[in-house]
Amino acid sequence: MHIHLLGTGAGGGFPQWNCNCDNCRRLRLGQIKSSPRTQSSITISGNGEDWVLFNASPDIRAQLESFPPMQPGRAIRDTGICAIVLCDAQIDHTTGMVILREHTKPWDVYCTASVHEDLTTGYPLFNVLSHFRGVNWHEVKTDMQPFTIPKADNLIFTAVPLKSEAPPFSPHRHNTVPGDNVGYRVEDTSSGKNLFYAPGLGTMEPHVLEYMRDADVVLVDGTVWTNDEMSRHGISDKLASEMGHLDQSGKGGIMETLSGLEKPRKILIHINNTNPILDEESQEYTQLKQAGIEVSYDGMDINI
Ligand code: MLT
Ligand code: MN
Ligand code: ZN
Repeated sequence: MHIHLLGTGAGGGFPQWNCNCDNCRRLRLGQIKSSPRTQSSITISGNGEDWVLFNASPDIRAQLESFPPMQPGRAIRDTGICAIVLCDAQIDHTTGMVILREHTKPWDVYCTASVHEDLTTGYPLFNVLSHFRGVNWHEVKTDMQPFTIPKADNLIFTAVPLKSEAPPFSPHRHNTVPGDNVGYRVEDTSSGKNLFYAPGLGTMEPHVLEYMRDADVVLVDGTVWTNDEMSRHGISDKLASEMGHLDQSGKGGIMETLSGLEKPRKILIHINNTNPILDEESQEYTQLKQAGIEVSYDGMDINI
């Protein structure tokens, strides 16, 4: 299976339009060893021709331009995207669907019932899209039963419920339900290899750890280095945990968990612009490297 990372930044991207944190400022000035990141999205293909888009970021237009295989040009209006799979209803993961409104038929969208609810109530994106070609919704259950997607040859998908937060506009913002956030296991039946992808992870539950342990590649929440990162930068007094993101450096954090996994290649994704790991010369980046953990970047390709 081919995995292409379209966008590896968290909401806002890197640099964020209104942000003057150390990282954003130094990136603009060319004073940091790093690269810009667009907002969170990956794409996967089992046959090299039909691509499943995981999350549709507001940067999707530029992301598609940056990856020619997704524009095969077989007809006057055409795309290589055969389906869209959503992890949650967050703005950075769904707003790209507005950009994709010119599709010639309804989009096949795979998401849970609670994400569907958010996208037809608090953030009625699907209602808006119904005035274009609309959405053909396929419910993703949270019972961890594998499912397939037409045209996504050789791939088997499993949604894994995660503890994180529902978006600010969700009717169940402070009363999360299973399905507000899911990760996905994607297995390639020809290679027997599998990816575990979870860009928003708030709590490391035992079943999540099992999926990670069994994966060949883990692509997981790299939002923040410390739980109080936003307040440290004078940006917000919200903790990362209140936004449903587990930090990397704390006790029981992502770094500790990942470094204990033997089998998978371990890669962080959905990296917030405040995170010191974006600076390849930082001691935090070095610490990750020593723990065998990679920091993803836009355009990264993984073949398993
Ligand atoms: C998140 O990952 O917590 C959200 O995408 C934040 C946002 O709205 O940008
Ligand atoms: Mn996000
Ligand atoms: Zn910033």
